[in-house]
Amino acid sequence: IPVDTFDCVVFGATGDLTLRKLLPALYHRFRDGQAPEGSRIIAAARSEMDDSNYRTRAEAALQRHVAKDELDPEQVRRFLACLHYAQVDGAAEKGWEGLLSLLAESPPDRIRVFYLATSPDLYGPICRNLAAHGAITPQSRVVLEKPIGHDLASARAINDEVGSVFAEPQIFRIDHYLGKETVQNLLALRFANTIFERLWNADVIDHVQITVGETVGVEGRGGYYDRSGALRDMVQNHMLQLLCLLAMESPVTFGADSLRDEKLKVLRSLKPMAPHEVEQLTVRGQYIRGAVDGRPVEGYLADLGAEEPSRTETFVALKAELNSRRWANVPFYLRTGKRLPQKVSEIVVQFRALPFTIFPADAGTLQPNALIIRLQPEEGMRLEMMTKEPGPGGLHLRQTGLDISFEKAFGTRYPDAYERLLMDTVRGSTVLFMRRDEVEAAWGWIEPILDAWEAKGDTPRPYSAGSWGPTASIALIERDGRTWHEDLG
Ligand code: BG6
Repeated sequence: IPVDTFDCVVFGATGDLTLRKLLPALYHRFRDGQAPEGSRIIAAARSEMDDSNYRTRAEAALQRHVAKDELDPEQVRRFLACLHYAQVDGAAEKGWEGLLSLLAESPPDRIRVFYLATSPDLYGPICRNLAAHGAITPQSRVVLEKPIGHDLASARAINDEVGSVFAEPQIFRIDHYLGKETVQNLLALRFANTIFERLWNADVIDHVQITVGETVGVEGRGGYYDRSGALRDMVQNHMLQLLCLLAMESPVTFGADSLRDEKLKVLRSLKPMAPHEVEQLTVRGQYIRGAVDGRPVEGYLADLGAEEPSRTETFVALKAELNSRRWANVPFYLRTGKRLPQKVSEIVVQFRALPFTIFPADAGTLQPNALIIRLQPEEGMRLEMMTKEPGPGGLHLRQTGLDISFEKAFGTRYPDAYERLLMDTVRGSTVLFMRRDEVEAAWGWIEPILDAWEAKGDTPRPYSAGSWGPTASIALIERDGRTWHEDLG
């Protein structure tokens, strides 16, 4: 569906996110004819450059990050022609003439998207400067990348500053997990089907596991990562959003506020961890030298180039519980880490065991049902169920899966999360973005964990690169008589 003609101003236009994710996503949308004639991308950064220099850089980024068979030279040429460059230091009050005169070339009612692909401490200053220069029109919106702050206080400060210039419906706080097809599919699974919603509660579900494993290390992002760690980088946002979509009540409509109201209720119902519980309910790890995909890799400290030990976790596992009737005594086990054996994001909804069996012991052990939702790499779902093994002999029962691979089912390219989200910002749809109160509620739950770790002052447990994290994370779930789902991917 085409959108209205737009100008998209990207601050941080020479940064990794813009080159690796935003430009390829915009290219795909232009290529598919979604951006109307006249739409422009205005790349804004501090470096001295002109349109032509920036286009050369952008072309190199496309060559690198877009699949070869999707790079059509004529389309690339047309896309590059929509790119303009404005040299500006978003945090400085002066030097905005170039950007302002580019913006003045468009009619005043043209949609303007200001995408802040910068460090969060620049969000406030950039917004202030945009307002001071009269660049914010009624058709303007601002997109903020995560992390929104470093803790609750800094998130509030950013939200206050941005909110003093933009109204809440103009603010798009991005969590790219919400743009992933299978994440949106969670809503379809739950609210567009009859069967699951009736089973979606503590009477039938034993527990839920969410695993987000990555094989990469900190890849040149050590400066940012070492100040964040896995809890801030992945759990506060992506994983809690997944938990919200799994646990929330049915929204009244598919409208942004209905959906976000329900997610907020989940975040507010997360049981706060008291300091003495944090040690029991969380495990922190940091990778040391090992091997991933048969290739030897360095440990975290070597990747950072650090001489001193670091207390930053590159792995976290935790047990979360919700104060709600629907989820009473149903734990949500979360784990995520860098340098794990597989790049895989998977949700396991584990149903309760049968209380009674009619089958003789030699028919085999009855395994409880499980619904496995794969977010990546191969998007799909599998419902594990007991079936009879074929054959004329005795009765043997075995677990098999009802399996659906979305790619095979739909035979279509899976767009990157940013493609969907960028176009939603142009459309003005905030459904898949986080509202201020959600971000703050998530920090409110995370912060006591960070504080308890800080107060303890110990270093995370080491784990070899290429393993599933410290053994303590296995103990975390086994203490409850459960195990992590192993057949991943
Ligand atoms: C980002 C984190 O938000 O998500 C990165 O900052 C992480 O550390 C990335 O690698 C994971 O995203 P995806 O889409 O590859 O699962």
